[in-house]
Amino acid sequence: MLHILGAGSMGLLWAARLQRAGFPTQLILRNIERLAAWQAHAGQLELTDPGQHQHISLSLNAELPDSPEPIRFLLVATKAYAAEDAVRSVQHRLSADADVLLLQNGMGSQQAISRQLPRHRVFYATVTDGAWRPSAHQLIWAGHGQTIIGDPRQGPPPDWLTRWQEHGLTLEWHADIMAILWRKLAINCAINPLTALLDCPNGELLERAHGRLEELSQELQLLMSAFGIPLSLDILRTQLDQVIRQTATNSSSMRQDIHCGRRTEIDFMLGFALRSADQLSLAVPALRKLNAELQTYLATHGLPLD
Ligand SMILES: NC(=O)c1ccc[n+]([C@@H]2O[C@H](COP(=O)([O-])OP(=O)(O)OC[C@H]3O[C@@H](n4cnc5c(N)ncnc54)[C@H](OP(=O)(O)O)[C@@H]3O)[C@@H](O)[C@H]2O)c1
Repeated sequence: MLHILGAGSMGLLWAARLQRAGFPTQLILRNIERLAAWQAHAGQLELTDPGQHQHISLSLNAELPDSPEPIRFLLVATKAYAAEDAVRSVQHRLSADADVLLLQNGMGSQQAISRQLPRHRVFYATVTDGAWRPSAHQLIWAGHGQTIIGDPRQGPPPDWLTRWQEHGLTLEWHADIMAILWRKLAINCAINPLTALLDCPNGELLERAHGRLEELSQELQLLMSAFGIPLSLDILRTQLDQVIRQTATNSSSMRQDIHCGRRTEIDFMLGFALRSADQLSLAVPALRKLNAELQTYLATHGLPLD
């Protein structure tokens, strides 16, 4: 049994994908109200995959964090700011050999959970799929992306990953997941806050924020290099431009969060980058200015600043 903590867009997408591939899953919902609401719909999920012209209905079991069954595998699918508390709520149920897979965007929550679970193998992932929920029981898999999984302690790939791949799940293993997370963080630190502040789709940044992208890239490259992540400025700029062009019509997750009045994951993007720069006394004025502007913007929208 695979336990999935958090039944939001990513949690439901992974539950559906794993269950359809033949791996039984169990959702863990935060409280009795959420569980009752889920069960009121008989645990049915309507999954629409517009790209594949598919619409399927499947049934997913759910339980509470304090259910008695031990957890052998835990996939954590909450937002980054909720992950530590969510893991704490089920930590007592993890069997000694349980593996944990973290899907959170940004950085910082992963390291905190690794410290929280020193005896378990904790895997990190980056995900570029796009999924959203029109309601608690409906999921739109808007874009198929890439999932890269790795072990920050650089151990071998786990057996479950091979089994999942053999059953048709497209997942990649990377021996240096920290380098992958840093690269994604750098791209997120440039795109997310600027699109939020300018209130524009990703593609407009090339025209409207060209100079700022340049400054931010320079500082992010220096920061990564200081943390032993080799990536030339040219390659970072090329990758950033590619992502902006490939996602030109998309609204970044931070812009969407602000539009919906939801807490953002800024603390796990710019916040993490600034704390990392502070650790090494590295000057990053462009990142700092961007963070200050975003904090002001969030405050004027009445949203949490962390
Ligand atoms: N959605 C995407 O397209 C996408 C793509 C790439 C990466 N990601 C990343 O994936 C992560 C998850 O994003 P998401 O879009 O799936 O977020 P989401 O739709 O907001 O789902 C998060 C879920 O976690 C649940 N949760 C929070 N605390 C919990 C707790 N203590 N116990 C149980 N459940 C708890 C929430 O439940 P409540 O409703 O009860 O709060 C919510 O259902 C984020 O880091 C995001 O950046 C998302």
